[in-house]
Amino acid sequence: MTETIRWNVTNNKINNTELIEEAAQLLRAGSTVAFPTETVYGLGADATNEAAVAKIFQAKGRPQDNPLIAHVATKKQLMQLVEQIPGYVDKLLDQFTPGPITFVLPSNGTCAENVTAGLSTVGVRIPDHPVAQQLLIMCDIPIAAPSANLSGKPSPTTASHVWDDLNGKIAGLVDGGSTGVGVESTVVDCTQEIPIILRPGGVTKEQLEQVVGHVMVDPALVNEQEKPKAPGMKYTHYAPEVPLWVIAGSVDKLKNIMTREISTGKRIGLLVSTNTAKQLEFEQTISLGNTLQEIAANLYDGLRKYKQSDVDLIICEAFPEVGIGQAVMNRLRKAATRYMDEQ
Ligand code: TXA
Ligand code: MG
Repeated sequence: MTETIRWNVTNNKINNTELIEEAAQLLRAGSTVAFPTETVYGLGADATNEAAVAKIFQAKGRPQDNPLIAHVATKKQLMQLVEQIPGYVDKLLDQFTPGPITFVLPSNGTCAENVTAGLSTVGVRIPDHPVAQQLLIMCDIPIAAPSANLSGKPSPTTASHVWDDLNGKIAGLVDGGSTGVGVESTVVDCTQEIPIILRPGGVTKEQLEQVVGHVMVDPALVNEQEKPKAPGMKYTHYAPEVPLWVIAGSVDKLKNIMTREISTGKRIGLLVSTNTAKQLEFEQTISLGNTLQEIAANLYDGLRKYKQSDVDLIICEAFPEVGIGQAVMNRLRKAATRYMDEQ
């Protein structure tokens, strides 16, 4: 096991230069380094170096058939990784980058084969985070980076989450505090005439539609029988240490289910909005916030906080599936051992 170097940086570009240069050097030399983005922490490696990218799969225990997102600092660098792009991608780039959106485009073969998992397309994204931006500019190479968690666990929104999962398995960790958005980027297939959302995320369907009109959604997002177009969407994901039930419906319904489970001797941990928390007044509660933005930002930390030693079951309320609520509910459905809908 290697010793993982940890750099504490601020989000102020000037103070970080030397520390981030050390991280950039490691990346250029073919090592793995985790770093903050505006969505979640990523585990980076040189996207043009197959052996470097292989270390990401190794550290995370990630299935080999799940492609990685290549991160770049500018639109110009993005264009160097792909074949010609449809016109609507220009509009999306102008409107949403840098930002929480990943474009799936025909690859021109610059990225190593294990980045694309052998597909003819590559996912590319320009993150909107001062530390990520500075790191990418200093590296001057595309950086392949999945979320910096062990495969299957909730994505990391703080450096401590990364440390818990990957200390000793990666060369470095740039600690830039909590990420902002809290759920991953929206993955958009841009290889067809109409863009298709493969994974809901930080940029919402409504926002995309305002710029390009009609946007489609991968049928697998609404029908479990369909095979997802993003290979990563088929795996179990975001799982906390203990079973998680997600419950749609009234606060009274939540209360009844809690009472029933407590009477069987289960130790319950609640994951709810601040408003619901007030109504339930239950001791073991993590409130995720009031708005859907706050709930998205705090979701993964909440899922990670409940430990086997403290609770037997997490009960989480279902949130409205509008705006970023679509990404929140997509993640919760994947994380849940049981989902109870309105009936
Ligand atoms: O916000 C994010 O996107 C974060 C930060 C670190 O940038 N990254 C992230 O990466 O969430 P990861 O590897 O955890 O998720 C990438 C998703 C997977 O579901 C993968 O299957 C899909 O994007 N993906 C990547 N390349 C693809 C491609 N060429 N075609 C279809 N899906 C692709
Ligand atoms: Mg991930």
